[in-house]
Amino acid sequence: MYNFDKKVERAGTASVKFDLREEIFGNPDVLPMWVADMDFETPECIRKAVMERATHPVYGYSIMTDGYFEAFKGWLKRRHNREIQKEWIVFSPGIVTAINAAVLSFTEPDDSVVVQPPVYFPFFDSVKNNGRKLLYNQLIYSGNTYKIDFDDLEQKAKEAKLMLLSSPHNPVSRCWNLDELKRIGEICLENDVIILSDEIHADLVLPGYKHIPLTSVLPELEEITITCMAPSKTFNVAGLFTSQIIIKNEVLREKFKKTMDTFHLIHGNIFGMIASEAGYTHGDAWLDALMQYIKENFELVDRFFKNELPVFTLVKPEATFLAWIDYTKTGLSQKEIEKKLIESAQLGLNPGRIFGPGGSGFMRMNLGTPRSNVLEALHRLKKVF
Ligand SMILES: Cc1ncc(COP(=O)(O)O)c(C=O)c1O
Repeated sequence: MYNFDKKVERAGTASVKFDLREEIFGNPDVLPMWVADMDFETPECIRKAVMERATHPVYGYSIMTDGYFEAFKGWLKRRHNREIQKEWIVFSPGIVTAINAAVLSFTEPDDSVVVQPPVYFPFFDSVKNNGRKLLYNQLIYSGNTYKIDFDDLEQKAKEAKLMLLSSPHNPVSRCWNLDELKRIGEICLENDVIILSDEIHADLVLPGYKHIPLTSVLPELEEITITCMAPSKTFNVAGLFTSQIIIKNEVLREKFKKTMDTFHLIHGNIFGMIASEAGYTHGDAWLDALMQYIKENFELVDRFFKNELPVFTLVKPEATFLAWIDYTKTGLSQKEIEKKLIESAQLGLNPGRIFGPGGSGFMRMNLGTPRSNVLEALHRLKKVF
């Protein structure tokens, strides 16, 4: 019913992933498996809705409609069993914008913000660029998966004002479980730490796993949590820059809105809103099929490494379409492996070092792509390593 095997030509479409290859890798021909958008067609329900609106010849200032809010609320209830009110939803173009706004709204210069590396690197910039202090609660790599160092988090939480949580976690692919989320919540509640729960990958959990919204694990958490969600990853519409930030606590919400208003980041864009509404209303079956396909991509990589290329290990995947790969058995340094990947294998991956402490020794490979590309990448790896 959905053809995820179909190859779509993206080069020359002003695509970051394809059209910045020369700039990023110094090689315009690498097979690009880096930045986190997918190579699949956006679901038809979204394309139809956007095209229909595009036929209207005026693209003036727009408002967020009730239909948009209802669609998002319905999706949250249906997919994540979370009930919210329309008033709690604040617009942000992107999640990184919202993270920066949260840092500005809920901390003062020199305050500390705790993050859990290796983690999505703009987390670091949002803290450093705004003159706040980074506290690392580094994840523990053990038995081919990651766990949280709670003793360390307890210490860091004493000093921190804000925690940036990636849930599910990019890049280590963890879908945090109930016990873990509860423990995080308890520690932050005990220490008056506000939590920004970046749940942009919430919809992208592999079959057999379940995303748990942070706010659902303890009722008090609703008062101290800023949840970031978006259709960008879910439906491959990152270029439309439309995100939903959920803040129940009115004091926190007003602070956040004031920061956003300072930069006049209060208007959505018409196509982002239309796309969100269509996806959140009609996108369930497409998403379920997508995650089955992604799961099979992960299985293919895992099998290939085990059978044909044991110097690489796939870290156990639970969520996202991003494979986190341990290459330490190659004995190569990060520099050496980057050179080999780009020059010999002609592959454009994200080097693990950019994800901060604990990132070296790993690389991130984007599996949101037709299986033929995954196979091609694996064969290139085998040839070189
Ligand atoms: C955890 C996480 N947060 C945020 C983003 C990006 O969000 P946006 O493009 O909406 O700023 C990404 C993209 O990869 C991500 O992985």
